[in-house]
Amino acid sequence: MKGIILAGGSGTRLRPLTGALSKQLLPVYDKPMIYYPLSVLMLAGVREILLISTPTHSEMFRNMLGDGTRVGLRIEYAIQHEPKGIAEALIIGADFIGDDQVALVLGDNIFHGPQFAKILDDSVRELDGCALFGYRVKAPERYAVGELDDAERLLSLEEKPARPRSDLAVTGLYMYDSDVVGIAKNVSPSARGELEITDVNRAYLAQGRARLTELGRGIVWVDMGTHESLLHASQYVQLVEQWQGERIACVEEVALHKGFITAEQCHRLGEEMPGTAYGRYVRETASRHEIVLSA
Ligand code: DAU
Repeated sequence: MKGIILAGGSGTRLRPLTGALSKQLLPVYDKPMIYYPLSVLMLAGVREILLISTPTHSEMFRNMLGDGTRVGLRIEYAIQHEPKGIAEALIIGADFIGDDQVALVLGDNIFHGPQFAKILDDSVRELDGCALFGYRVKAPERYAVGELDDAERLLSLEEKPARPRSDLAVTGLYMYDSDVVGIAKNVSPSARGELEITDVNRAYLAQGRARLTELGRGIVWVDMGTHESLLHASQYVQLVEQWQGERIACVEEVALHKGFITAEQCHRLGEEMPGTAYGRYVRETASRHEIVLSA
């Protein structure tokens, strides 16, 4: 499976924070926002990633993440010239996807929780068409909304409905088979002029090949689209990290646990950040891993 991170958009709702900076590079407590969706793809076992951003910001992402080899990935970059809709990511990424399956994640979504890695594993293994992930929210009209029947079959999908049929928001993580490129190319712009990802998902639903898995209690999902949700995400990460002593979305740690890099490589990455708590954590993670392996 390949992976795409969509990290474009104009960030208007976060001005003035985004005056000179990409929204997806803003700090979420101790790391840049992009680390969170990146670690989601890595947790799903994805190693080939296309990062799509704006003409102004693409170079900043490249400077930060490079070609990904440091954490055992292959990262490529592409540009979305105008924010013409989330589904355009699948058209921009058509050659990159090729005949493979793909996971698309929005660069401003954070997911965390004890069962989340298992849900990702199961979804990749059982993927047949399109896999979506739902989360119960208080204001579903701000998102795509899915409706499930008693047997958890997906009945309907609507983008930002005025009268939502349920409180189950569709989160910004999508998994597809290779048909998705053809489907995305057939989508027409919506009334707001965007290629809607919900139209892609509805095409799968019409074929009876869309599944929506509810992310239950214990899993946290935040769409960091407002100042308030950005602050909440930072507060959550800080609380969990200080309380548990484990970091969320530490890409070096995820790479080590997924076997993308060795403990020795992980240790070296930690040494590149001397005098920081983050660097120390990466080194300690590598040492703990070596101890477990030699035990
Ligand atoms: O977060 C989940 C929601 O994301 C879904 O429930 C909705 O179905 C989906 O449309 C989207 O809704 P948003 O209102 O959050 O979309 P927004 O326009 O804010 O875009 C989400 C992110 O994707 C944002 O960080 C910017 C980026 N983006 C968006 C568009 C439309 C791009 O990079 N390029 C684009 O063309």
